[in-house]
Amino acid sequence: MKVRTLFVGLAAAAFSALALAQAPVVIKFSHVVAADTPKGKASEFFAKKAAELTKGKAKVEVYANSALYKDKEEMEALQLGAVHMLAPSLSKFGPLGVKEFEVFDFPYIFDDYNDLHKVTQGPIGASLLAKLEPKGIKGLAFWDNGFKSMSANTPIKAPGDLKGKKMRIQSSKVLEEQFRTLGALPQVMAFSEVYQALQTGVVDGTDNPHSNLFTQKMHEVQKHMTITDHNYLGYAVVVNKKFWEGLPPELRAQLEQAMKEATVYANKIAKEENDAALEGVRKSGKTAIYVPTKEEKMAFKKAMLPVHTKMADRVGKELLQSIYKETGFDPAKL
Ligand code: LMR
Repeated sequence: MKVRTLFVGLAAAAFSALALAQAPVVIKFSHVVAADTPKGKASEFFAKKAAELTKGKAKVEVYANSALYKDKEEMEALQLGAVHMLAPSLSKFGPLGVKEFEVFDFPYIFDDYNDLHKVTQGPIGASLLAKLEPKGIKGLAFWDNGFKSMSANTPIKAPGDLKGKKMRIQSSKVLEEQFRTLGALPQVMAFSEVYQALQTGVVDGTDNPHSNLFTQKMHEVQKHMTITDHNYLGYAVVVNKKFWEGLPPELRAQLEQAMKEATVYANKIAKEENDAALEGVRKSGKTAIYVPTKEEKMAFKKAMLPVHTKMADRVGKELLQSIYKETGFDPAKL
């Protein structure tokens, strides 16, 4: 009887050790936007690819819509290792002490995705990601979203229309300066709180790519939007460095491949998703969409240009110049 008990016990222990050895590595991936956005879809794509390429040895759990953490908390959670992977907007790295990322917030610095990719997919992008390492964070990729429109309950056709408006912004000093330059009153706020703040009038307006505006239903509480394209909004996919480097090398290589494929997918769908969202806003009939003329757009560019000089030191003049060189942006030519 005793031998039998011992045998059963040993078998149970062996079984649980085996189960443990085969239990997948869980990677918690948290983000703040809806599942039906470029970032939402790309993170799901990555989860599927990761399961496929690792043959189930890694399980990526995606938590959308700030379900796990809001903007500020998610960065802290990543550093603590409570969450493993995030894709914060490039405008949200300043509070971490990596101010250089705010170079992406310089108004009109990128004309289009083509200009942008020269930076994100090249050596400048790689050197920016490397700046995260002393913070215990490893940057894996840049994922696109798109160019921002401004919205409010009153028309925005000229820079002067922003005067005195309370505008919700992300936590970037460059964005803050940009709205101050326009005479507006910028207010930093977590993404999850924007809809309610617009609805209750805590702020008058905001700016975002169309996919974010539409999936958060901001168009239901904003009567006007203008396709200003004044800033780019995109993401850095980041992981807790210690966690990532502690993964078995073969598994990590498979995950890196999954990330590579997810990045191609993300950057392929971003424009389509934003175009479809704009169409959704148009069809809703709730927001008047204004497309500025060439001259009106130039007026916005000129009004925001001083931000480039005022904030050059924050991101570093050399970095700024290297981006001008890549994209051909020339402040003197405006
Ligand atoms: C915002 O806060 O407006 C955006 O950064 C949200 C996002 O992640 O796209």
